[in-house]
Amino acid sequence: MKDATIKSAAVKYAAVKYAVVQLPSTSDVALDYGEAFVPSLRHPFYAFLGARPFLAQHTAEEHAALKKWARGRSTIVEIGVAEGVSALALREGMSAEATLHLIDPFHLSRVPALNFVKRSAHRAVATCPRGKVVWIEKFSSDCAKQWHLPIDLLLIDGDHSERGVRRDWDDWSGFVKPGGVVIFHDARLFQGGWTTPDYGPIRLVDGLFRTQKIPGWSIVEELHSLVVVERRA
Ligand SMILES: C[S@@+](CC[C@H](N)C(=O)[O-])C[C@H]1O[C@@H](n2cnc3c(N)ncnc32)[C@H](O)[C@@H]1O
Repeated sequence: MKDATIKSAAVKYAAVKYAVVQLPSTSDVALDYGEAFVPSLRHPFYAFLGARPFLAQHTAEEHAALKKWARGRSTIVEIGVAEGVSALALREGMSAEATLHLIDPFHLSRVPALNFVKRSAHRAVATCPRGKVVWIEKFSSDCAKQWHLPIDLLLIDGDHSERGVRRDWDDWSGFVKPGGVVIFHDARLFQGGWTTPDYGPIRLVDGLFRTQKIPGWSIVEELHSLVVVERRA
């Protein structure tokens, strides 16, 4: 990549903190970020440099919903952080007294010593100073073994296999307080969306909350790929 291209992109995107997914989006492999993103700068190194915005894996409406659900909640946990834009949404919404726990092993980097996804995530989340953030660089199942805090909001967006999402549900849902919520991402089909019926979160959410209707939980919001379930008081 030429220096001039990087410099001009950095100037162009200086005011754009993050880019959200544009709809319609028929595949999660080639998410569209519209004008806010030069595809040749896809590598997270360019986000770290500031030559492109941090890339969300959600829509603007989902971003606003995450912010809204974080409001007034004290202990917030996100499983699956990537470049940190959903974590940023939660931090933007939460109160100054809240703590946001971010769980991701950041294991997908081709050069673990550099790990620009992790570095970008730290930079993205630091753009909002609200409350406290605790980074946990582990797989969610390993982290669950030592977890002990009651949770107000849990966002599940890590391992998307049906087995992986079920494991997150089994490991973590017991920690959610009555009145607390679990938000699943990539968990429903929607107009112009990228999800397909074989997605792990869709299968799990349909099974638990539509077919089985497990006691003590109910769906309280569905928006684009998000499904929010609340533990009844
Ligand atoms: C779909 S991305 C998350 C997108 C992010 N929430 C957003 O909206 O911008 C999935 C992330 O989950 C992480 N991940 C995969 N398996 C995981 C696991 N078992 N525990 C925690 N994180 C995991 C990956 O490293 C990746 O960063």
